[in-house]
Amino acid sequence: MAMGYFNPYFIKRRAKKWWPYFGLFLLLVIGYQEGVLRSYSSSGSYTTVDESSRSTMKEIFALEREIKLLKSVLKKYSIPEAEYADTLLPIIYVITPTYSRPHQKAELTRLKSVFLHVPSLHWILVEDATHKSKLVMNFLESSGLSYTHLHQSTPPDWKLQDSDPKWRKPRGVLQRNAGIKWLRRKLRGERDLRGVVYFADDDNTYSTELFKEMRDTKTVSVWPVGLVGGVMVERPLVSRAPTPHVTGWLAGWKPDRTFATDMAGFAVNLALLLRRSDAEFSFTSSIGHMECDFLEKLVTLSQLEPKADLCTKVLVWHTRTERPNMKDEERLRKAGTPSDQGIEV
Ligand code: UGA
Ligand code: MN
Repeated sequence: MAMGYFNPYFIKRRAKKWWPYFGLFLLLVIGYQEGVLRSYSSSGSYTTVDESSRSTMKEIFALEREIKLLKSVLKKYSIPEAEYADTLLPIIYVITPTYSRPHQKAELTRLKSVFLHVPSLHWILVEDATHKSKLVMNFLESSGLSYTHLHQSTPPDWKLQDSDPKWRKPRGVLQRNAGIKWLRRKLRGERDLRGVVYFADDDNTYSTELFKEMRDTKTVSVWPVGLVGGVMVERPLVSRAPTPHVTGWLAGWKPDRTFATDMAGFAVNLALLLRRSDAEFSFTSSIGHMECDFLEKLVTLSQLEPKADLCTKVLVWHTRTERPNMKDEERLRKAGTPSDQGIEV
C-alpha cells in the first residue's frame, strides 16, 4: 500500500485532482505579499524611510516622552499647566535679605515651599554676612529654584544687637540694595524688561495667590498686609470710580504717611525700577519710613495699582518667628557636646 504513493500513475492522477487548489493557494500567497508591500510603501515607512527622517521620528518620540514626564511633575506639585504654557510670563524677581540664626533654615524652607509653586520666579537671596555660608549655598543648590546667591554685610554701627529694641535700626537695607544693583548690572542693555520686583523678608507668610496678583504690575501694585503695625490688617483704601484707584491708607501706625505700607505690601515693575537709578533703600530714612521714602522715588499715590480684589483680600502676613529657647544648648556647648554636632539644623 505504501509503495502505491510512488507509483507514477497514481501521482499523475492526484496532481490532476489537486492542481486547481494548489494554483489558487499560490495566487493567494502572491496577492497577500503584494498588498503588504504596497501598504508599507504608501504609509511612507519601512521600505522608503531614509536615515534623516528616521532620526527625526526618534527625536519626536523622545520629546513626547519628555512632555509626559514634565506634565506628571506639574501634576505632582499641583502647578497649573496653563501658567507654564504661557512662555511670555513676566519674571518675578524676589529679593530676600537673610541672616544667620538658629531658625534661618526653617524660615528659608517655608519660603522655598511656596516659591516652588510659582512659575517664572527668580529668587535673589542676599545674606547679611561677610561671605556666603555653606548652609545657604547647599540649601539653594538643592532647592530646585532659579536663584542668585549674594552676600552684603551690614556695617557694625547699623547692625541691630540682641539687646536693641527692633525699631532701633532698619534691617535688610544694604541687602535689598545689593539685589537691586545685581538686577541693574545683569539687565543692562537688555531690551525685554518685562518683569516684577518684590521684596520678601524671610520671616513673613506668603500665599501662592499673591504672586498671581503682582505678575502684571505696570507701575507699583499694592495690597493689604495682615498682622502688622499693631493691627490685624493694614491696607490701601480704594475708590472704584471713575476707575479703581488708591485714595489713602488704613493703618494703625502713622496712617498719614504717603505710602503707609509694609515692605510686604507692594511690588514694582522691573523696567520702572531700572529706569529710576536713584531708587534704593536708605539707612537715613526716619524710623518706619523706609518703604515710603523708596516708593516716593517711583510713583505718586494715584499711579498705584490696587490688587487682591481691590485690596479686600489678605494674601500675605507679617508673621514673626519666636526666638527659639537655647538655654540647654548653651549648657551643652559649654560642655563641648552641642546637640547639632555633625547635623545641620
Ligand atoms: C519690618 C518690615 O517688615 C521690614 O521689611 C523692615 O525691613 C523692618 O521692619 C525695618 O524697619 O527695618 P521686621 O519684622 O521688624 O520688619 O524686620 P525683620 O524681619 O527682623 O527684618 C527684615 C529682613 O531683614 C528679614 O528678611 C531679615 O532676615 C533681614 N535682616 C534682619 C538682616 O538681613 N539682617 C539683620 O541683622 C536683621
Ligand atoms: Mn519680619
